[in-house]
Amino acid sequence: MPQIFSPAANTWLKASIAGGVLLIGIGIGIVLYLGSTSYVTRQEQIRPQPVPFSHRHHVNQLGIDCRYCHTSVEESNFAGFPATKTCMTCHSQVWTQAPMLEPVRQSWQSGNSLEWVRVHDLPDFVYFDHSIHVKKGVGCESCHGPVNEMALMWQDKSLQMMWCLECHRQPEQFVRDRADVFKFASQPDYHPPQDQASLGKQLVSGYKINKTQLTDCSTCHR
Ligand code: HEC
Ligand code: HEC
Ligand code: HEC
Ligand code: HEC
Ligand code: HEC
Repeated sequence: MPQIFSPAANTWLKASIAGGVLLIGIGIGIVLYLGSTSYVTRQEQIRPQPVPFSHRHHVNQLGIDCRYCHTSVEESNFAGFPATKTCMTCHSQVWTQAPMLEPVRQSWQSGNSLEWVRVHDLPDFVYFDHSIHVKKGVGCESCHGPVNEMALMWQDKSLQMMWCLECHRQPEQFVRDRADVFKFASQPDYHPPQDQASLGKQLVSGYKINKTQLTDCSTCHR
């Protein structure tokens, strides 16, 4: 029987299979890479808001506590956005004519709430709860970055599953004293611990943090 394929064709076939596998590999790599870029996670992007509210100004310069505006962060899964009334406590007295604050005055007069654009937004299939993190000594700063220095809000972390798990596997590297949850490294009245390793261990047992359950799928997907 005559030979249909030359020995060279055999080599070509092997080479193209190897090449195909390589291409698929590169393709998967690119998809995984793109999935973790800030284009997809929207990390560090500023979003337009009805009013250019500055945390740096209100927190660092005026010294207002997070809980004054995010009132439910200690008791509920949702931190909450301030009602217009909260802004008007001050802005009926200061900056009453500023054009920048016109949407706030309009909202106050009409009774329609301001529509803040969500900066952090997990997919619906992920369960998250602020109150448990606050109770167990996880600082706002650990998940939201230097909020006290943000002239405009951005998402500081990826909020991807691997990021949650980094802490859920080793909470001792991150937990702080409950009294420091609302503080930031750059504030003069807060000194991050020199010995996180030993403090962390102590707090994990003191706050009864249950490490085994923290990596169960059903903790975050219920
Ligand atoms: C005077 C009121 C006020 C205070 C005080 C305040 N915030 Fe806010 N915060 C807002 C408003 C209004 C928004 C929505 C506009 C924006 O995203 O900038 C917001 C948004 C946020 C967001 C983003 C929410 C989202 O859309 O995902 C985070 C995170 C946040 N604040 C954390 C903090 C922390 C931490 C503190 C304390 C250090 C704090 N805030 C203090 C009013 C306040
Ligand atoms: C405890 C008082 C207080 C509260 C509550 C408050 N502000 Fe202010 N805000 C101020 C003061 C004081 C200034 C600065 C005025 C100045 O620079 O002379 C200011 C300035 C501003 C400015 C000007 C831009 C800048 O420099 O930050 C905006 C916009 C603003 N506030 C929006 C808001 C909104 C929206 C809320 C409600 C979520 C709010 N403020 C709540 C006191 C307050
Ligand atoms: C363990 C990480 C973590 C900590 C600690 C944390 N946050 Fe958040 N925060 C998130 C995530 C994740 C979201 C988005 C939640 C969603 O989309 O359901 C969020 C959303 C928010 C929002 C938008 C409204 C909401 O509840 O969805 C505000 C405001 C906020 N956080 C403020 C705070 C403040 C103030 C603190 C400190 C007391 C704090 N956060 C601590 C992870 C954290
Ligand atoms: C910096 C540390 C840290 C980060 C980041 C973090 N967590 Fe947590 N989380 C904790 C700690 C500590 C607890 C408390 C565990 C306990 O009480 O045993 C907790 C508890 C939880 C619980 C409550 C479990 C229960 O029993 O109700 C959920 C849900 C949760 N985390 C979801 C998330 C999600 C989703 C993310 C990412 C978006 C996240 N966490 C990021 C530290 C963290
Ligand atoms: C600490 C919280 C947490 C735990 C525990 C967790 N996940 Fe997730 N998971 C998340 C978050 C947050 C996202 C959303 C990521 C995003 O938006 O990119 C996610 C997304 C996913 C997705 C969607 C695909 C993706 O990567 O975006 C799948 C599938 C998934 N998780 C499966 C699991 C399985 C299986 C387990 C158990 C082995 C698990 N998760 C445990 C937080 C968690």
